[in-house]
Amino acid sequence: PWRKIDMPETILKEQIDRVVILTINRPDKMNALNQQVRDEMLALLDEIAVDDGVGAVVLTGAGEKAFIAGADIGEFEGRSPFDQRYAMRSPRIFDVMSSFPKPVIAMINGFCLGGGCELAISCDLRIASDKARFGQPEINLGLIPGGGGTQRLPRLVGPGHAMRMILTGDMIGAAEAKEIGLVEMVAPAEELRSQTLELAAKIASKSPLTLKVAKQAVRASQRLAIEEGILYERDLFCLCFSTEDKQEGVAAFLEKRPAEWKGR
Ligand code: COA
Repeated sequence: PWRKIDMPETILKEQIDRVVILTINRPDKMNALNQQVRDEMLALLDEIAVDDGVGAVVLTGAGEKAFIAGADIGEFEGRSPFDQRYAMRSPRIFDVMSSFPKPVIAMINGFCLGGGCELAISCDLRIASDKARFGQPEINLGLIPGGGGTQRLPRLVGPGHAMRMILTGDMIGAAEAKEIGLVEMVAPAEELRSQTLELAAKIASKSPLTLKVAKQAVRASQRLAIEEGILYERDLFCLCFSTEDKQEGVAAFLEKRPAEWKGR
């Protein structure tokens, strides 16, 4: 890892077997994303990206109320466009998350607003508590989404639902979020953690190498035309024939035994 932080102060990291849980820990500020959270998130992701002991990541917010209530609005005050541009320099957490080599699941435990919603959208999967609330309220601040919301949200839920959320700034509940495809699963609040960990453990039990290739192929569908995407998939599929895990997976099936992945 090229960025390093000895002791993150705003993010808790715990590991259960091959699953790492990152918890943004500013519950008194609804886990709003300030510069320190973003810096620590980048450093932690750098570390986790190259950690062979980690198969999947869960991202969540501390406390009962919020996943992430957006960017820290306090930091916007008095900023010039140049100050803001510097604060938004690459690498950005949204882009790092959306191209992360391991599967990332957003465990949405409460308010999921603005940059929080954009970060959730940048993850691979979203599982929400039935109490979660979603929105892109930037319009109410005289702003527009700046963490990829105008681009990634329409790709996930379609331009119409994205437009409605972005133009009204209104919040929607978990059931509606599921209905429009903003989240893939909804769980009762008290089961959110166990259901998420079950999902994460299942994914983390697969070959990390194959997961990486699968993610890369699906992500490519967001930028490639269908013809190019299909060709890209074929190349990646055939590339899998070079891995030990493909030999193992096929052999294990034929021998009627569970596969033992090597990540090679
Ligand atoms: N940035 C900075 N601080 C935030 C914040 C944000 N995005 N969201 C919440 N907070 C802070 C509040 O200022 C408050 O701090 P205080 O106790 O020091 O006054 C604390 O978190 C609790 O929030 P509060 O508004 O009192 O809770 P609530 O239950 O009444 O409302 C929300 C919760 C999430 C609906 C409300 O805080 C809100 O609308 N937040 C802003 C969301 C937003 O616009 N995000 C997009 C940013 S671009």
